[in-house]
Amino acid sequence: MATLGVIGTGNLGLKIAQLAIAADLEVVLSNSRGPESLTSAVAQLGERAHAATSVESAEAGDWVLLSVPLAVVGQLPRAALAGKVVLDTTNYYPSWRDGYIEVLDSGKMTTSELVQQTLPEALLVKAFANISDQHVLPLARPEGAGDRSAMPIAGDSLRAKASAAELISRLGYDTVDVGLLSESWRFEPETPASARAYFADVRTLDSGLIRVAELIAAGRSPMEVDFRDQGAPLSPERLRTLLDESPRVLTANRKTP
Ligand SMILES: NC(=O)c1ccc[n+]([C@@H]2O[C@H](COP(=O)([O-])OP(=O)(O)OC[C@H]3O[C@@H](n4cnc5c(N)ncnc54)[C@H](OP(=O)(O)O)[C@@H]3O)[C@@H](O)[C@H]2O)c1
Repeated sequence: MATLGVIGTGNLGLKIAQLAIAADLEVVLSNSRGPESLTSAVAQLGERAHAATSVESAEAGDWVLLSVPLAVVGQLPRAALAGKVVLDTTNYYPSWRDGYIEVLDSGKMTTSELVQQTLPEALLVKAFANISDQHVLPLARPEGAGDRSAMPIAGDSLRAKASAAELISRLGYDTVDVGLLSESWRFEPETPASARAYFADVRTLDSGLIRVAELIAAGRSPMEVDFRDQGAPLSPERLRTLLDESPRVLTANRKTP
C-alpha cells in the first residue's frame, strides 16, 4: 500500500494526513516531541496511521509531507529524505516565528529554494502552502467533481512534480504547475493566489490580518486569531489567472510579515 510520511503534525500536517487516510494511503506521522506524543492523533486517524520518528517517516514515505516551521528545516533528516518526493508546505513568517533571513527578504531566493538548499538531495515540490488549514478538508473533492479546487505546485524536478500531482489528485485537488522553485513566490503569503483565494468571505481574512499585525506589533503570538470561514472552490482557470497576475510580495511589503 502507498505510504505518505508526514513530518510535522500540527494544524496543516494532520489535516493532510486525514485526506491521505481517506484516499486509502498509509500515513507515518512524526513531530518534534516523538512518537509517544502522537498516540491520540493515531487513534483518531485509525489503523492505517502510525507514529514514528522523523527519520522513520522519511524512510517509510513514497512521498513525504514536510509541514514544519521554516526555522527548524535544518534539523530534519537530510539523508533519509534524499531521493524522496517531498511536498513542502513551508511559508516564511519572520517577525513572529522564523527570524529575518536576508536572501528571502531581498527576494534573492524563494522560501522553497532555501528549503531545497537545506535538503539538497530531496526532490522538493512546493504544495499545500497557499491554502489555510481550515479549508483543506472541506474543499477536497474526488477527481472529476465540477467544484473541485486547484492548488499550485512548483519544483525543479519534472518527475517529482508529476508524482506530487498524482498524490495531490488522490487527496482531492487539481494542480497548476507554476514552474521551478524560483517561481514559487507566485503563491507565497499575501499574493493573490495565497490563502485568500479560497476564502468565501475575504472580510474575515482582512479583519483577522489586521488583528495579527496588532499582536505582532505588541510582541505577542498571532496564533490565537480566528479566521473561521467556510471556504470557496478555486478552479484551475481562476488560479492560473491569479498566478499570472501576481506581483512579487517581499517581506517589507507584507501586512503580516
Ligand atoms: N496552518 C496553515 O494554515 C498553513 C497553511 C499553509 C502553509 N503552512 C505552513 O506549513 C508549515 C506548518 O504549519 P502549521 O500551521 O501546521 O504549524 P504548527 O501547527 O505549528 O505545526 C508544526 C509542526 O512541526 C513539528 N515540528 C517542529 N519542529 C520539528 C522538528 N525539528 N522535527 C519534526 N517536526 C517538527 C511540530 O511538532 P511538535 O508539535 O511536536 O512541536 C508540529 O507538529 C509552516 O511552515 C506554515 O507556515 C501552514
